[in-house]
Amino acid sequence: MWPQVPQALRLIPEQASTVAGQVDALFLFLVAVTVFFSGLIFLLVLVFAIKYRRRSEAERPKAIHGSLLLEAFWTVVPLGIGLVIFVWGAYLYFVISRPPAAAMEVYVVGKQWMWKLQHPTGQREINELHIPLHRPVKLTMTSEDVIHSFYVPAFRVKADVVPGKYTSVWFEATKAGEYHLFCSEYCGTSHAVMGGRIVAMEPAEYERWLAGGVGEESLPAAGEKLFGRLGCNTCHRSDGSGRGPSLVGKFGRTEKLTSGETIAVDESYLRESILNPQAKIVAGYPPIMPTFKGLVTEDQLVQILAYLKSLKTDGQAKP
Ligand code: CUA
Repeated sequence: MWPQVPQALRLIPEQASTVAGQVDALFLFLVAVTVFFSGLIFLLVLVFAIKYRRRSEAERPKAIHGSLLLEAFWTVVPLGIGLVIFVWGAYLYFVISRPPAAAMEVYVVGKQWMWKLQHPTGQREINELHIPLHRPVKLTMTSEDVIHSFYVPAFRVKADVVPGKYTSVWFEATKAGEYHLFCSEYCGTSHAVMGGRIVAMEPAEYERWLAGGVGEESLPAAGEKLFGRLGCNTCHRSDGSGRGPSLVGKFGRTEKLTSGETIAVDESYLRESILNPQAKIVAGYPPIMPTFKGLVTEDQLVQILAYLKSLKTDGQAKP
């Protein structure tokens, strides 16, 4: 869409994701509307100043009694433009905030002052993320300390990374290359250097990169070990005979609570149940689970989460 211009002269970053063009189109529309009306106002100020200048001391202008047509015109036109901007913006917002179901999931933990990223297959990266082209990538993100923000200008995506909860963002890279990753929320002394790069690679090259990594355990496998080591499996037995509910096939479903409420079993709920088990008790079970606050790190929580999610689709018997 943009002619090739030298990097230094480029007004906006490269477009390297499926949504980049759409975001830029909306941005250009906003700029165009702003420039058009600013220009129109300046022009009219000038024209009217000349045309209606006072020509003699005695000159009195004719009284104005208003015009319904004119009032309606300058009400309806801005309303129409406002609605176009709203609908267009809302549509794009939905596109950007809803990852496709088939997206590959990468976990991100932000901390002062670095990004820790982990692939589902276990590869860890710091301040660097390798991704395949033409495949949606969903980031599930949290922070160990303060609020950070994950920003990749070339992909036109940015999302806050907040301690105590999971946020997510997704993108699909369309062009091989290296792109800047920034932290765009002031997070302390070294905020400015909290960044890195995203490396978008051809799928075959990405597979090679994955295979070349140090043979790390996959996230669900590491999570399963942890699930045993922390003794979670003594109560949360997969056959449902334990003192806690079986967690097989629970992710993505809903659960009824003792309070009568129904909640969705998502990342944030699972996280809360591990760190603050008494907050939401599943109906039919006693509130006996101890907290694991301070016993598991953010990285380990991510592993447990990946394990619990994997129980959804691995074909194990439903409880
Ligand atoms: Cu992290 Cu700014």
